[in-house]
Amino acid sequence: MAELDRSGERAPAPPADWTYAPAPESRDVVRLRDRYGLYVGGEWLEPAETYQTISPASEEPLAVVGQATAADVDHAVGAARAAFADGWSSLPGSERAKYLFRIARILQERAREFAVLESLNGGKPIKESRDVDLPLAAAHFFYYAGWADKLEYAFPNRRPRPVGVAGQIIPWNFPLLMLAWKIAPALACGNTVVLKPAETTPLTALLFCDVLRQAELPPGVVNIVTGDGRTGAALVEHDGVDKIAFTGSTEVGKAIQRRLAGSGKKLTLELGGKAANIVFDDCALDQAVEGIVNGIYFNQGHVCCAGSRLLVQESIYEPLVDKLKRRLETLRVGDPLDKNTDVGAINSATQLEKIRELVESGQEEGAEIYQPPCRLPEKGYWFAPTVFTNVAQSYRIAQEEIFGPVLSVLTFRTPDEAVEKANNTPYGLSAGVWTEKGSRILWMAQRLRAGVVWANTFNRFDPTSPFGGYKESGFGREGGLHGLEPYLRFDE
Ligand code: NAI
Ligand code: MG
Repeated sequence: MAELDRSGERAPAPPADWTYAPAPESRDVVRLRDRYGLYVGGEWLEPAETYQTISPASEEPLAVVGQATAADVDHAVGAARAAFADGWSSLPGSERAKYLFRIARILQERAREFAVLESLNGGKPIKESRDVDLPLAAAHFFYYAGWADKLEYAFPNRRPRPVGVAGQIIPWNFPLLMLAWKIAPALACGNTVVLKPAETTPLTALLFCDVLRQAELPPGVVNIVTGDGRTGAALVEHDGVDKIAFTGSTEVGKAIQRRLAGSGKKLTLELGGKAANIVFDDCALDQAVEGIVNGIYFNQGHVCCAGSRLLVQESIYEPLVDKLKRRLETLRVGDPLDKNTDVGAINSATQLEKIRELVESGQEEGAEIYQPPCRLPEKGYWFAPTVFTNVAQSYRIAQEEIFGPVLSVLTFRTPDEAVEKANNTPYGLSAGVWTEKGSRILWMAQRLRAGVVWANTFNRFDPTSPFGGYKESGFGREGGLHGLEPYLRFDE
């Protein structure tokens, strides 16, 4: 005891300010090549056209990658078609499951390497890529591995069969996780795949090809073609593709749907959102503040289901907004590879421009802006966490998806009014409800037109739970038993 007391005396006085010492994650765990080809039929093809991929936090070039042309896409679809016919589709489910289990385990083993690369190429904080993206990606493969030999039980008396070649186009906000959401159910159901990562974040998908080789997946079962929207369009238009799965903007989703109308190809679209996060006056206020922060500042707000519209019951508006502003002051914005960072870099110059434009429109239309004092790095793409109060429903910041760390606060008085305002959007991907009353949660959940309704939490994901939208947020579900269906046909 005496010793403890003495050491107490020697303890230094707490520092005047609570700035954190840097805690950077080591980059050495990732070995990048200078140049990557296209992964087709288990081989690396040299692309005719290339571009540089960069780190959005520093604008430093990371690697040269391929811009796949229509001819390259044709090649990849050919490889997928051949692999489908050449045994993959007729392999027993239990054998397919073994490959998926292997992929899941290798992802777990190499999680640190993938997390660092994800943060480096995409700008998200390492604590998120490490604690959210990687565990969820592995969990998705584990989950669908479990279904591979149980499809007849999942769909009794319906004779589930694979669709064929799946063309999959993914965005840049959760690059490896979206890859997992797409590839795992496709393979579990016996399909083969041509996947196109987003142009700003190709690197974890390219590193994933290494995992496929390690898992000894037969060549051609998964093919990865990098490139921008032109590559995506070539994949959509290819006649050899039987199903398109797309996650991205509503604008491109609509164009794809128009393009595929009447073609007989299966289609699932997971598009934008403008979710309402609804806080009632009987909620646990501090927990709600954490949920609001997680809802909109997680992944810099680059989240299709982000809680970007906060609906607060009028009676608690002032204390809640005060608490929220105080909480924002403690968010650390900066180096994505620092383990203390809460908010990382904006994914690209284009996205930063879009955020700035919408934020300016909010100020012009008359909303009140709040940003906590924070010093943003000089190089790279950054945007401070932002809250808008005094927002009318008609403002663009209350209507359009900003896809950045920007929250719009609105108020309501009654549950009916909350529902009315929450549903007043062309989107319908997610919503959040904060209240002590279970009956109110159920009452709200029945009336909210959103694919996912979180209660007293936000942005929680689980591979067993289906995810997808209403209205302009798209159609089809990913995750859970529902997520198998788009990759199956059920003919007699
Ligand atoms: P985008 O929809 O253009 O890109 C998503 C993917 O589609 C990328 O892989 C892209 O290369 C591909 N693509 C682009 N044009 C295509 C075409 N004509 N045919 C086939 N594939 C095509 O999204 P973008 O431009 O990166 O972001 C714009 C906005 O879209 C964001 O500000 C955000 O509001 C929203 N968005 C929503 C996402 C979501 O998770 N629902 C993800 C990314 C963006
Ligand atoms: Mg675009």
